[in-house]
Amino acid sequence: MGKVHVIDHPLIQHKLAILRNKETGPKEFRELLDEVSLLMAYEVTRNTPLEEIEVETPLEKTVCRVIAGKKVAVVPILRAGLGMVGGILSLIPTAKVGHIGVYRDPATLTPVEYYCKLPADIHERDVIVVDPMLATGNSMVAAINFIKERGGRAENIKVMSLIAAPEGIRNMETHHPEVEIFVAAIDDRLDEHGYIRPGLGDAGDRLFGTR
Ligand code: URA
Repeated sequence: MGKVHVIDHPLIQHKLAILRNKETGPKEFRELLDEVSLLMAYEVTRNTPLEEIEVETPLEKTVCRVIAGKKVAVVPILRAGLGMVGGILSLIPTAKVGHIGVYRDPATLTPVEYYCKLPADIHERDVIVVDPMLATGNSMVAAINFIKERGGRAENIKVMSLIAAPEGIRNMETHHPEVEIFVAAIDDRLDEHGYIRPGLGDAGDRLFGTR
């Protein structure tokens, strides 16, 4: 699992425990997912290239390092991925946001794109694809296929999820082995309904109060 990073920072683990708790309601769930996404984005962007610029302090000139202007796109997979966008944007306010909607064809069980709107210059951007739950990994594999078909370059794509199942990670390693994956936890397994166990339930329902 060379490309998988489990971010076990105490703040993230603490907030994840509250997110998992079934007593946590949608308002608190949204706020916590926002905070965890911000904290995770800090790690996901750790290798962002820097460049030197000259800055004049009140006392003298000095050389400082600033982000080298590489552009970022955040791409949530609908709908639960929406809950991770705000936290990233508060750290990277200039990022563009693309959206991908994928459903599973009941007859063929293959993922079908029903919505895809990406920044036109996606091929020039570092892309962070977000979905809180990396379960079977089928939606994530399909989403990255769509991004690659539109010119996105594999080495510039990163995945950020809250919880992954081992099955989802294996699926990604098979289809997109060059893509780095950042998660807060790798859980035990998928159940027969496709839920991650122990997980946190349906992330979309918990975010939007639809259950
Ligand atoms: N999607 C969810 O929201 N939860 C899971 O456990 C699996 C997929």
